[in-house]
Amino acid sequence: MLDWTDRHYRYFARLMSANALLYTEMVTTGAILHGRGDYLAYNQEEHPLALQLGGSNPVDLARCAKLAAERGYDEVNLNVGCPSDRVQNGRFGACLMAEPELVAECVDAMKQVVDIPVTVKTRIGIDEQDSYAFLTQFIDVVSAKGCTDFTIHARKAWLQGLSPKENREIPPLDYERVYQLKRDYPALNIGINGGITTLEQAQLHLAQLDGVMMGREAYQNPYILAQVDQILCGSQKAVISREDVIEAMLPYIEAHLLSGGRLNHITRHMIGLFQGLPGARAWRRYLSENAHKNGSGIEVVKQAFQNIQAEVTE
Ligand SMILES: Cc1cc2nc3c(=O)[nH]c(=O)nc-3n(C[C@H](O)[C@H](O)[C@H](O)COP(=O)(O)O)c2cc1C
Repeated sequence: MLDWTDRHYRYFARLMSANALLYTEMVTTGAILHGRGDYLAYNQEEHPLALQLGGSNPVDLARCAKLAAERGYDEVNLNVGCPSDRVQNGRFGACLMAEPELVAECVDAMKQVVDIPVTVKTRIGIDEQDSYAFLTQFIDVVSAKGCTDFTIHARKAWLQGLSPKENREIPPLDYERVYQLKRDYPALNIGINGGITTLEQAQLHLAQLDGVMMGREAYQNPYILAQVDQILCGSQKAVISREDVIEAMLPYIEAHLLSGGRLNHITRHMIGLFQGLPGARAWRRYLSENAHKNGSGIEVVKQAFQNIQAEVTE
């Protein structure tokens, strides 16, 4: 998720679930091909990991997909769901739903050069084009070029007049439409996304579909990931405790600090670890007030954890 997630979040998330497929935030082909930084950097521990690409030029996308495969990504996912103005100006994201042939060409170009899966994340419609026929037309054209894996954010996007945030909240969710799609395309892998906040909800979706993608909940309440392997994947291993998650983050944080990074680059992703529990506020507040200070180290994380006990026993 742009501006929210990064490799530090994914390292943290992976400590809680070995099985969940993690996605990068959308990375544009322009950034990868012409940017100064290394936009494909990640920690090996993040696997299985999909790179989400933003773009609509088949040649550029193919180059990026090839780079991603060479760097060891497990999947390349094309973003056909982001409605922001910036993205529309670049002619990619959700507005590409109106150009299924171009999306198919992009998928085809990527599939020609990599062996890893090339997948598409999209919505159920855009603007007035929100009929089921519009969605199936899109799926028909794109799957004809060999894309077998779609994640559907179960609401449409308004390309004008709504902010990206509003486009995640205002258009109503229509899960039934995604179920219908799976019934009509049983050979395709269809995953669902949008408004899923518990693993029980995920189980209900998985009774009809092939996958469930969680966005905001997995970020704001990351400990939900701790039972994904057990509840959704049948793992028998013990659920990691929050304390053990913190413990496991400390060496990672220290290595980051030693390489010149700042504490809050990492702890900002850990703020929600105690979400919904007594003491969550003490944890959040101590990290927010201290982790950004110059020279802050892992003692801040340890103190934040101790403050939880103090708040709980007050
Ligand atoms: C801050 C933020 C950034 C996002 N960035 C991306 C992105 O880069 N790529 C993408 O496919 N979706 C992005 N999304 C959308 C989510 O992936 C997801 O489709 C949406 O939030 C609905 O799912 P949820 O209700 O589980 O959060 C973003 C969402 C948020 C809140």
